[in-house]
Amino acid sequence: MAKVKIGVFGAGRGCTMMNQLYGHPDAELVAVCDKYVPSLENVRKTAEEKGANVTLYERFEDFIQHDMDGVVLANYANEHAIYAVKCLEAGKHVMSEVLPCENMAQAVELIEAVERTGLVYAYAENYCYMDRTFEMWRRYRNGDIGEATYGEGEYIHDCSSIWPQITYGERYHWRNRVHPFFYNTHSLGPLMAMTGLRPVKVTGICTAPQPELRMEGLSMNQAGIEMVEMENGAIFKSIHGGLKREPGSINYELYGKKGCMETQRFGEENLNVWMEGDKACEGTLETYIPEKFIEKEMASREGGHGGSDFYATHFFVQKILGRPQGEWVIDVYQAVSMGICGILAYRSFLNGGAPVEVPDLRDPAQRDKYRNDTACTTQPAAGDQLLPVFPGEDELPPVPDEAFDRIRRIWQAGQRYENEQQMRD
Ligand SMILES: NC(=O)c1ccc[n+]([C@@H]2O[C@H](COP(=O)([O-])OP(=O)(O)OC[C@H]3O[C@@H](n4cnc5c(N)ncnc54)[C@H](O)[C@@H]3O)[C@@H](O)[C@H]2O)c1
Repeated sequence: MAKVKIGVFGAGRGCTMMNQLYGHPDAELVAVCDKYVPSLENVRKTAEEKGANVTLYERFEDFIQHDMDGVVLANYANEHAIYAVKCLEAGKHVMSEVLPCENMAQAVELIEAVERTGLVYAYAENYCYMDRTFEMWRRYRNGDIGEATYGEGEYIHDCSSIWPQITYGERYHWRNRVHPFFYNTHSLGPLMAMTGLRPVKVTGICTAPQPELRMEGLSMNQAGIEMVEMENGAIFKSIHGGLKREPGSINYELYGKKGCMETQRFGEENLNVWMEGDKACEGTLETYIPEKFIEKEMASREGGHGGSDFYATHFFVQKILGRPQGEWVIDVYQAVSMGICGILAYRSFLNGGAPVEVPDLRDPAQRDKYRNDTACTTQPAAGDQLLPVFPGEDELPPVPDEAFDRIRRIWQAGQRYENEQQMRD
């Protein structure tokens, strides 16, 4: 059978997916698009080393004409829905990096584009496929801890030292312009994937902004916290942002009616599973390092992020091919449910922490209310509904150009920030 032909849009993070495709038995990388030419040059070199025939494009409009079955979106995180719709309309299956959409109107538009075209949409929330989270997903499905009652998801990543490398000194780079609740699916997503539960209500709170850092063009040291009520009454707490700790934290705990599961908080690879037996409050505790249970050899060979990067791409390809492993894909309804919890949590936060209803956009009757709801923190997506990046932003003077110029110089010199003093010098 011919291999599935895949193109990748965005050659930064997109290189991770390219690496999965070079080694994959069922798929091949055929095209890459990025407007930043040095990144395309890196792709050219790697493709040559791998003996792959990859066509390079600088413009999306040219790239999308290429003969390919599917596109991996690894472009700016706030523009995924816009490009997903364009790809679907052009007849391509889509795998989207995080996040699925930037506002509620895009959420509706994305779902309807998937429904209209009948093509595959796969959400590459790789944190759902890490060894410990994927094992928790398997064990939850197995019924080992019973129906979920409470969960916590935590994604803490302090990007201070690499801020020049990931924002390039661009004032309007999405990492400088999105609110603290935006990047929420690494923490909330795995809990939702494991349980399959749908959110119904969300409350948002947030750590204080640090205006003195923001005035230096550094907007990372805030954490958004969502309390999400699920359809069965379970509560999931999700926290994500740049608090101080190393290594970063990727941790989850999940309680059910018959037990609980939790990862460990300082990078240990163990998973703890406690299951109640026949007697109340008595049970067994297992502590173990989970083994990969799907395509172990390939996932171990190709995997970044503990094999999880392999699975996101692999399941996308399997779904296109109509094979059983495609069932592990995170579909558009679940992706949007994960993402809009962050969007609506910010709305809750701006409204003093009042709970906000999370609609079920699988239901067409619930969509009209949000069809023109473009509120978000970047232009042009927001139109006349632009929100501040944090409350009080409008009262501060604009960040001076010199702050971004300095960040750009550090990036161009290939340096990292060594400490906070250097960020202010
Ligand atoms: N899942 C994970 O573990 C993980 C890790 C890192 C990044 N990401 C995601 O990957 C995506 C990309 O992040 P990144 O770190 O590469 O940084 P980025 O967002 O700065 O880079 C995106 C790349 O896309 C290119 N691009 C954007 N718009 C374009 C356009 N219209 N035409 C041509 N090229 C365009 C840019 O030149 C850049 O090289 C983001 O969505 C981010 O959330 C996910």
